[in-house]
Parts: sequence; structure tokens; C-alpha cells
Amino acid sequence: MKEVTRENAAALIRAVHLLAGQGHTQFADLGGGRPMNRLNDDNLPDLATVAEAEQPARQWLLLDSDVSAVTAGRALLGGEGVAVVQQDLRHLPGVMAALHGHLDMSRPVVVILGAVLHFLTMPEAQLLLDALWAELASGSVVVVTHLTGEGADPDTVQAGAKAYRTLHGIDIYPRTRQEITGLAARFDLRPPGVVQTIEYEPPDAGPAPVPGPHFLMWVAERS
Ligand SMILES: C[S@@+](CC[C@H](N)C(=O)[O-])C[C@H]1O[C@@H](n2cnc3c(N)ncnc32)[C@H](O)[C@@H]1O
Repeated sequence: MKEVTRENAAALIRAVHLLAGQGHTQFADLGGGRPMNRLNDDNLPDLATVAEAEQPARQWLLLDSDVSAVTAGRALLGGEGVAVVQQDLRHLPGVMAALHGHLDMSRPVVVILGAVLHFLTMPEAQLLLDALWAELASGSVVVVTHLTGEGADPDTVQAGAKAYRTLHGIDIYPRTRQEITGLAARFDLRPPGVVQTIEYEPPDAGPAPVPGPHFLMWVAERS
């Protein structure tokens, strides 16, 4: 799982780098987790830092339901242009209030949902994406990475999800490529479409995709 986590981080870093390079200055990292900023084993930079390198005046909203992630976010990211909010993604009014409170929602925003939608039921994930679609300005972009059981034995996937629930006390929902693609339905998928996170990295960045649990990824625009 460690390699999959590194691939997820690397793909999100690349997405943020590309989007900031294209001129995006507002980012909402929803379920953003604990900022790592080179504190992790792979020495990877934090997404907020990646965006700042391209856009020094970027506005960054980190939102997470976990108090330790939020506390670490405030300690490690605190400063100009950063807001850290504790909120559950299933509480849509709270999520929308955080977006409106910290970003200019009349202008495009990059929303990052990295490895978090698989903690929501399908109706919860769909409601969140519908609410974002309604709220985001044209030209906004949503970046999603999502655990899939694609390529793995369904019984093994179910057993893995059950073991995760027992260990961590929260449900996790690995989904099919079709389901993960369906979450993008109201948005316009950008190339390369729905791919494994490892495929989103430049071809010379790492090994070829292998069968087994992994994350699928899409980047899509609010037209
Ligand atoms: C696997 S981590 C992913 C962190 C980061 N986005 C990444 O891709 O590396 C999942 C994060 O989602 C947060 N999370 C899970 N369920 C959530 C919910 N319902 N609302 C807000 N955050 C949630 C967790 O607290 C955790 O920080």
C-alpha cells in the first residue's frame, strides 16, 4: 500500500503543479489530510507548497474532518494565503461556507479530492460533487483520486474493506472504474481521462502500472 500512497501523492503533486502553472491561484484541498512537506519518507513536497512555487499569491484552503490533520495543517501551513478548516465533507452547508469564507467563488477554483471520496457512500459522494458543480465558477477544475478494486479478486477486495473497517473503525468503499468515472458525469473530463495515478505521472517517472489495489484518477473542468 505504501507504493500506492506514494503514487497518489506524486500524481496530486503533478496535477497541482500543472494547474498552478496554467494560472490557477485558488485551491481547496478537501479531505486534504496532514501536510507532509518533506516530512514523509519519500521527501515529497506538500501540495500547498507546490502551488506556491508557481503562484506565490495563491490562496489555499485545507479542509478535513480529522482534528489531528487540522492541527498539523495549522502548524505547518499557517501563514499568508492559507486557511485550515475542520469540517466533514458530508455536511454540505459547512463545506460551502468554508469555500465562500476563504476563496473568491466568483473566480475559478481547483478542488482537490485526494483519496477521500472512497470514505463516503455513493449518494454522499454524488451529493458533494453536485453541490460543487452548482457552486463553482466556470473554469474551475476538480481533481479526484479514488481507491478501486479494479483488477483484483472481488472477494479479496471485500475482505480488505472489512479488515479496514475493523482496524480503523470507518467504512471504505473501493469502486469500479465505471462508478469512479460516473462521479465526473457533470464535469468535462480532461485528458488523459480516467487513469491509474501512476499513469498520470510522466512516463519516465516510475514503473509501469501493475495489477492490484490502486487509485484511479480524473481531472475534470466545470464548463
Ligand atoms: C487517505 S487520507 C488522504 C489525504 C490526502 N488528500 C492525500 O491524498 O494524500 C484521507 C483524508 O480524508 C479525511 N476524511 C475522511 N473522511 C472525511 C470526511 N467525511 N470529511 C472530511 N474529511 C474526511 C481523513 O481525515 C484523511 O485526512
